[in-house]
Amino acid sequence: MSQVSSSKFDIVPPEPAALIESLRSVGYSLPTAVADIIDNSIAADARNIHIHFHWAGTNSYVVILDDGRGMSEEKLRNAMRPGSRNPLQERSPSDLGRFGLGLKTASLSQCRNLCVISKPADGEVSSRTWDLDVLANSPDWRLLLEPSPVAGDALQKLKRMKNGTAVVWSQLDRLIGTQEAGDAVAHTRFNDAIDRVLEHVALTFHRFLEDRSVKIYLNEKAILPWNPFMKAAPVAASTTPEEVIPFSKSKITFQGFILPHKDSLNDDEFRRHSGPRGWTAQQGFYVYRNKRLLVYGDWLRLGRPAPWTMDEHYRLARIRLDILNDADAEWHLDVKKSIARPPALIRDRLTDLAERVRATARSVFAHRGKYGRRTVTQLATDRPWTSTIRENRRVYSINCNHPAIQAVLRSFPDKTPELESALRLLEETVPVEQIWLDTAEQSRDHATPYSGIEFSVIKADMRRVVEFLVKTGINRKTAIERLRSVEPFDRFPKLINEL
Ligand SMILES: Nc1ncnc2c1ncn2[C@@H]1O[C@H](COP(=O)(O)OP(=O)(O)OP(=O)(O)O)[C@@H](O)[C@H]1O
Ligand SMILES: [Mg+2]
Repeated sequence: MSQVSSSKFDIVPPEPAALIESLRSVGYSLPTAVADIIDNSIAADARNIHIHFHWAGTNSYVVILDDGRGMSEEKLRNAMRPGSRNPLQERSPSDLGRFGLGLKTASLSQCRNLCVISKPADGEVSSRTWDLDVLANSPDWRLLLEPSPVAGDALQKLKRMKNGTAVVWSQLDRLIGTQEAGDAVAHTRFNDAIDRVLEHVALTFHRFLEDRSVKIYLNEKAILPWNPFMKAAPVAASTTPEEVIPFSKSKITFQGFILPHKDSLNDDEFRRHSGPRGWTAQQGFYVYRNKRLLVYGDWLRLGRPAPWTMDEHYRLARIRLDILNDADAEWHLDVKKSIARPPALIRDRLTDLAERVRATARSVFAHRGKYGRRTVTQLATDRPWTSTIRENRRVYSINCNHPAIQAVLRSFPDKTPELESALRLLEETVPVEQIWLDTAEQSRDHATPYSGIEFSVIKADMRRVVEFLVKTGINRKTAIERLRSVEPFDRFPKLINEL
């Protein structure tokens, strides 16, 4: 409890026009503002969201219409209140909101007139409007009951719908300024802005679009998901196993993706997957909160000894991080949902895991061309051992993605902890000094993999890996071909031919 006496006070309500004008500068861009409105639609269980950009010079407007659960008049009035809900309040696990601000701050960062029309199931359509010009001339928070003049279409649509909500932005001073409808430059800028919204929505909500839980249309055209991990591409990224990191009451899921080298993509694939910012700037973490992308193309100031920077060598590394909405404060989530900083407690663990992904990505990048087309991706991941730096020291780890290791791990899912501790034991006790001494002494004498072992044994090992790959859904021929890039089987092309 505060020690300050609360029995004497002034009441100082904020001045509406001054406060709203300041809130406009929170720093939204048009795409992030649209995404914030879509968050609300998804949180309201919408299945279809229509974004409509209407060009008419200074009379241009934007409508975001959803078929979510809608709001009663009373709820709508409260939703329009800046700070409609306390950020400390617990939220349902699928809620994308936190601050009770987004609808207002995102909208008014783009327009001077925000009109929301809503209809709950079995209820009436109601509307409320914030108009900054009205606020500028009034001492109190006047929320208008009338819809804005451009909202007629949305109103009619909602009347015909069972339930839903429309957010209508007009007087788009930030986007349009005072240009006339005939102004070609302004119209081009408007269209460019629409393209940026399209890109941002396709990426931010790609997981909702992929699992078809929601469809989003932009000027009547369905937005297709843009998957940063090249899910639908002909050449798949290779992945590290999913790691779950417990964190206070919450948890974080980590998975690394190493994208295929340029040489294994055609020009079109290469361009398409470079992303809005281009290959090098798209590397790093992709942080999702309840499937919704918050931050991407960012190493989150992790790295040893200095924070990692965007470096071309690591451009094939992209890491998916899933967080839940019960640790927002620890992640320093901001109102725009565009900042998320890892809590101090898990930074080391994240750095260790990311280091491995980076090392693999670097080796795929470095082996360009040398191993020919379409095999490069597997090559780096299908090495039994990888070497990485941990706490400034080099360590050697067993690659759990190697198909032979995977075959064992997947065969005994209930023994995963035991198997992992056995692998860890091997990793932690690699006799590096001994190997170093031995190689120094007898430089040409060390055995190559499988030397002195019967061919029948090697072939049996190869077959086991093929069987495993077949079980994961790969056809037999492809599985056998895959062996050509799995170390150490790649040393025995003739034996592979005989399989
Ligand atoms: N499209 C919608 N359908 C139904 N309810 C909505 C819709 N948009 C907003 N709301 C209601 O209005 C409230 C306020 O929305 P607003 O975006 O301002 O805050 P929030 O989503 O709670 O938190 P945040 O500031 O993190 O976005 C929401 O909590 C929700 O109850
Ligand atoms: Mg919101």
